[in-house]
Amino acid sequence: MRRMLVTGAAGFIGANFVRYWLDKHPEDVIVVVDALTYAGNRANLEGVLGQRCSLVACDINETETIKSLLREHKLDTIVHFAAESHVDRSIEGPDVFIEANILGTHSLLKAARQVWQSEGQAADNHHFHHVSTDEVYGTLTMEEPAFSEDTPYAPNSPYSASKASSDFLVRSYHHTYGMNVTTSNCSNNYGPYHFPEKLIPLIIINLLHGKSLPIYGDGKNIRDWLYVEDHARGIELILDKGRIGETYNIGGVNEWANIDIVKLICRLMDERFTDDPTLGKRFSQCPAATGIPCDSLITFVTDRAGHDFRYAIDTTRIREELGYTPSITFENGIRNTLDWYLSNPAWWQAILDGSYRVRPESRRTVERLMERLTD
Ligand SMILES: NC(=O)c1ccc[n+]([C@@H]2O[C@H](COP(=O)([O-])OP(=O)(O)OC[C@H]3O[C@@H](n4cnc5c(N)ncnc54)[C@H](O)[C@@H]3O)[C@@H](O)[C@H]2O)c1
Repeated sequence: MRRMLVTGAAGFIGANFVRYWLDKHPEDVIVVVDALTYAGNRANLEGVLGQRCSLVACDINETETIKSLLREHKLDTIVHFAAESHVDRSIEGPDVFIEANILGTHSLLKAARQVWQSEGQAADNHHFHHVSTDEVYGTLTMEEPAFSEDTPYAPNSPYSASKASSDFLVRSYHHTYGMNVTTSNCSNNYGPYHFPEKLIPLIIINLLHGKSLPIYGDGKNIRDWLYVEDHARGIELILDKGRIGETYNIGGVNEWANIDIVKLICRLMDERFTDDPTLGKRFSQCPAATGIPCDSLITFVTDRAGHDFRYAIDTTRIREELGYTPSITFENGIRNTLDWYLSNPAWWQAILDGSYRVRPESRRTVERLMERLTD
């Protein structure tokens, strides 16, 4: 049985992870810590908050609060998702990426070391899992082999540089202080609860509003895509069987050019509207509502500065050591995702109109945080 602190689980991947974990591990208890930045949304955890899962609105840089939570709830595992995660925003303003991703990770490590090791709460029985990205490895040409765990780090954006720094800090706490850590570097995720600033939800939501589909450059940039639940399965395997101190790449072995993904979504959307005539009434601005192909909305826009060309993941280690393979094909995953966005317009409309944000009140004292745990 685990008692977990999961950071950043009001965001996309963390929320999916918590849903997956609670379903698969009925004995376990989770405390979510999330600063509820623009990317954090309480609605992502709707239906799972209760006896076994609580949400504390708190910044991971609040080291004393994190220590109190570890002690109060006797937590033995940290799964660390909290981060600023959008490359474009890191180009516009890197400072917050340094604070959240580097200083925030260090604050968590310090808190965990103090409570688990110095105070002995979980001296032998603790686990800090750090969730990172394949972007730390830089970029590939078409000819180069996929990133393995031995590929030298070469981050190109302030986002990936901040994640790379956090990876090194986690590594150092294992080698210097003997903390039980693991790290996963994952490829691009997609699925339910994905914030509409990212490619796949942006395309779906723009289509439903009849707005243009902006593609960077010539649309040939390649990413490896993984359904978010398959990421959760990978982390579960690492927590259960991964070697302490080790890094595991998680990927879909599923390389797609951006333009081809957009065309796939357009084709699946056209098919959905043909199969279900009620969609044309609910989303009348979508071109498919009047029989116009969705791909008519594709437009090309100026490329992102320093845009990495290709990411690809070599998953040999996690496959051979832990028996991991992704379970959901890309076309099925995109269908699930499309259906989720079609079935949950209230979720994304609340984001578009800003009503999803709950202004967090002052949350300085642990006493008040504890009160909120029973919400
Ligand atoms: N999205 C991807 O495709 C992808 C791929 C590989 C790795 N990752 C990594 O996975 C993690 C989660 O990514 P995501 O896409 O779910 O991101 P997200 O932006 O959807 O969610 C991040 C969450 O962290 C919270 N947060 C940010 N700063 C915080 C702070 N200082 N203290 C507490 N909470 C804070 C936000 O409120 C939000 O809920 C990140 O570490 C990211 O680097 C993401």
